[in-house]
Amino acid sequence: MASQIILRGQVLSFGGSPFEGEAPQEAAQLHEAVAVQDGLVAGVGAFKDMQALQPAAQVVDHGDHLIMAGFVDAHVHYPQTAIIASWGKRLIDWLNAYTFPEEMRFGDRSYADEVANRYLDLTTANGTTTVCSFCTIHPESVDAIFTAAQTRGQRIVAGKTCMDRNAPEGLRDTPQTAYDDSAALIARWHRVDRLDYAITPRFSPTSSPEQLEAMGALWAKHPDCLMQTHLSEQLDEIAWVRSLFPQARDYLDTYEQFGLLGARGLYGHAIHLEERERHRLREYGAALVHCPTSNTFIGSGMFDMQGLMAEGQRIGLATDTGGGSSFSMLRTMAAAYEIGQLRGTPLHAAQLLWLASQGSAAALRLEDKIGNIAKGMEADLVVLDLASTPAIAQRAANAKDLWEAVFATIMMGDDRAVAEVWIGGMRV
Ligand code: GUN
Ligand code: ZN
Repeated sequence: MASQIILRGQVLSFGGSPFEGEAPQEAAQLHEAVAVQDGLVAGVGAFKDMQALQPAAQVVDHGDHLIMAGFVDAHVHYPQTAIIASWGKRLIDWLNAYTFPEEMRFGDRSYADEVANRYLDLTTANGTTTVCSFCTIHPESVDAIFTAAQTRGQRIVAGKTCMDRNAPEGLRDTPQTAYDDSAALIARWHRVDRLDYAITPRFSPTSSPEQLEAMGALWAKHPDCLMQTHLSEQLDEIAWVRSLFPQARDYLDTYEQFGLLGARGLYGHAIHLEERERHRLREYGAALVHCPTSNTFIGSGMFDMQGLMAEGQRIGLATDTGGGSSFSMLRTMAAAYEIGQLRGTPLHAAQLLWLASQGSAAALRLEDKIGNIAKGMEADLVVLDLASTPAIAQRAANAKDLWEAVFATIMMGDDRAVAEVWIGGMRV
C-alpha cells in the first residue's frame, strides 16, 4: 500500500537535549527503521518491529545513510534569495545597497512566485523541510511563499515584513496599513493546512514607536501567532537604536515596551546582549535564533551559544538567507561549530544536528510536530549520505563511530550529501 512506507538506515532521533546532561551523544538514539503512514511517523525502532507494524509496507533501504528529521531553518528572508553573497558591506549599508532594492521587486506577484518557488527548490535540495521566513512589505510576497509551500504540502512560517521609516519610498507601510494587511494575511493563512503566520516588524530602526505599538496590539489579538524580528546584531545598529529610542533601557526594551516580548517571540541574531535583556528573554521563554554564516558574512559578531544555553535560553539555528552565505543547514552547522571554536566552546555533532532540527522546531514552538522522529510526528525527513564526496568518504572511512563520520559531513558537506527528502510522508 503506497501510503505505508518503511525507511531503513541509521535512523537518528533525540530523547532530550544534548545541551543538558553529561555527554551530548546520550541525548541521541539510533534505530534501524522508521515507519510512515498518511504523512505521519507510525513508529521507529528495530526493522523487524517496523515490519510487524506494517507488514504490507513498501521498504526503502538506505543502507548506512543517516535518516533524521528534516532540517528546520528558524530565520530566513526568502526575498533575498537572488542577492545572497553580495560583497563588502556591513548591516545597514548592506540593507540599503543590496536588500532594499531587491525587496522592492516583490510587489510584482509573478516575480514573488518565481523567487518563492526557486527558494523552496533550493532549500529542499539542501534537506530543509521547514523555514520561518520574513517576506517584504508587500502582501503579495506573503501570498507567494504560502501558496508555494501549500502546493508542496510543506510546513512553513512566514509574515509580512513591516517598516514605516528608514526605508526607501516604495518599501514603507504605515502603522495602520501594517496592522490591516497583517490582520488580513492572518485571516487568510494562519493555521491553514501546515502554514503558520508570524507577525513581523523588521527591527526597531525601521518601525516607528506607533508601528511597534500597532504590532503589539495585533499580537495581543492573535497570541497564537509567532512574532519575529531582529535584536542586537551589530554594534552600530545598537547605537542607532539607542539614538532612536532614548527612553528605552536597551534594544530589547524597544520591543518589550510595546508588547513585543513573549514566549512565541523569535529574536534573530541576539549577539550583543546586556544582562537585563538576557534575563528578560529567559524569563519570557522567548527564542533566540543563531545565524552563524550571516554573523560572519556581515561581520556582526560571535553568538554566545554555550553561555546562553547554560542559562536556559531557547535557541534555534538559521541560515538568515541572504545575509547568510548559504541555503544549507550543513554549512550553517559548520559555521556554528567554528564560532564555538573561536569562543573556546566547540559544539558536538549531536548538538549541531539537534539545533538544526529539534532546537529550531522548539524555537518555532512546533517541537510536537516536526524536528524529531517519533510516533505521531509529521514525516518530514532527510536522508544523508555520509560519504557524498571523495574527501568526505575517505574521512568517514576512517571514523571510529557515527559521530565522527557525521561530523565530516557537517564540516564538508552540502546538497550532494542530501540523498533524499520526504515532506509530509511523500518523497520529494
Ligand atoms: N536586520 C534588519 N533587517 C535585516 C535583514 O534583512 N538581514 C539581517 N541580517 N539583519 C537585518
Ligand atoms: Zn534576518
